[in-house]
Order: sequence, then structure tokens, then C-alpha cells
Amino acid sequence: MVFTAAERLHLGAEAEVWSGQWFDQPAVSKQRRARAWRHPHLDHRLGVRRMISEARLLIRLRKNGMSVPPVLDMDLASGRLIIGLVPGRPLIEVLNDPTTTRETMEALLRRVGAEIRQLHRWAVTHGDLSTNNILVDGEHVHLIDFGLASIEYDVERYGIDLHVLDEILSASHPNWEGAIECAVEGYVQADHALGPVPVLKGGAVPGADEVNARLEDIRTRVRYHG
Ligand SMILES: Nc1ncnc2c1ncn2[C@@H]1O[C@H](COP(=O)(O)OP(=O)(O)O)[C@@H](O)[C@H]1O
Ligand SMILES: [Mg+2]
Repeated sequence: MVFTAAERLHLGAEAEVWSGQWFDQPAVSKQRRARAWRHPHLDHRLGVRRMISEARLLIRLRKNGMSVPPVLDMDLASGRLIIGLVPGRPLIEVLNDPTTTRETMEALLRRVGAEIRQLHRWAVTHGDLSTNNILVDGEHVHLIDFGLASIEYDVERYGIDLHVLDEILSASHPNWEGAIECAVEGYVQADHALGPVPVLKGGAVPGADEVNARLEDIRTRVRYHG
């Protein structure tokens, strides 16, 4: 493997992430970590399955024009995925930055919503839309971390994607009131701008208005049943 590590970006329970170079290209190495409490064989199989799934979806989304990181290399035996380095900083940092204005926040969250809708239009739900998994580079928003993403056609999964973001925005960034509303606005507007939802091989993706209505349902359910 021709990855030269430079700086550790993240040490999580599931993966160790480094920035560096792959040949002469800025890249990121995502190394799956062994989970001591799982049987080693099962652990390896699970980790590899997730890694392959992440790579597959990244390739599918890149091919369809989304600005997710390109897949550069993969080593199944060691559980390592090399992807292109995405410029920018995590949304969590932008939202915590005291110099971020409300106007900037609103425009940014609208773009975040539009990007999520693009993803959903390709029948992909993210599964972990935290403000760490959204990178902001000036005007551009990039979604990363597709380890829990999957191809779905059930509206519930789409609603849950937005609900995860909703919960995180209100729990971690309560000072930005109305942030999720901006994201939903961008989500719905993107759908109207992009036209009818494409019918894919596996079925039809639910429309943005339908997903938004489901988000409301999920909120109500959570409110009454915890
Ligand atoms: N392609 C990338 N470009 C830039 N930074 C990245 C990239 N991939 C991951 N990172 C950074 O590393 C962190 C962890 O990577 P992530 O894919 O989210 O792994 P995990 O599954 O452990 O959360 C991200 O939150 C981000 O800060
Ligand atoms: Mg992550």
C-alpha cells in the first residue's frame, strides 16, 4: 500500500483515521479497529463487510456526480480503505465557531439539506448524519463516513436520517435555533429544483415532502414514547 501517513484525524471505536498522501494525492486512510468484545473472526467479517459497503456506496455516488471522497485503494485483509482527502472542516466546528453569523449558518444548513436530498435521490440513506460527518469547504458541503449507509426505499429510513441530524442540532447546537428548519427547507427546495424523483432499479425513492412529513411523525412518536 502506497499511503504515507501524516496526521491522525480521528481515533474512534470503529476506525482510526489518518490524513496523508496516496502517491502524490492528498488522501485519508480509514483503518478498521478490532473490537475486543467481539469474536475475532466475526469482528473481521463485520468490519470488512462495512468497509466494502462504504466503498461501494462511495463509488456509486461519485459516479452519479456527488462530491463524496473518491475511493483510491482498499485492503480487505488489513481492513483498510484509502479515500481522497476532502478539504474543509466539520460542520460541528463551523457551528461552534463564534465568528459564524446567523446568515452564514442559515445558508449553510440549506446547502446541507440540499446535499442530503441529492444523496437520498440516489436511494442512499446515510445512517449517521452527525455534524462530524458533514464537511464544509466555503460554499461546498461534502458528506463523508458511509460506513452505516445503505440503499433503501422505505420512507421511514429517510425520515430517520433527517431526525438524527435534528436531534444532534438541537442537543449539541441549541444556540442555533431554526437550524433544522433551514436544512429541511434546503432538502425540499432541492427536490423541487431537481424535478421528479428518478425511478431506480430497486424502486421509487420517496419524495422530499413525503420524507418531511415522516420526519414530523417520527418527532411526534419520539415525544410521546421517548
Ligand atoms: N475523506 C476525508 N477527508 C477529510 N477528512 C476526513 C475524511 N474522512 C474522514 N475524515 C475525518 O476523520 C473523521 C472520522 O472519519 P469517519 O469516516 O467519520 O470515521 P468514523 O466512522 O470513525 O466516524 C471525520 O469526522 C473527519 O473529520
Ligand atoms: Mg464519522
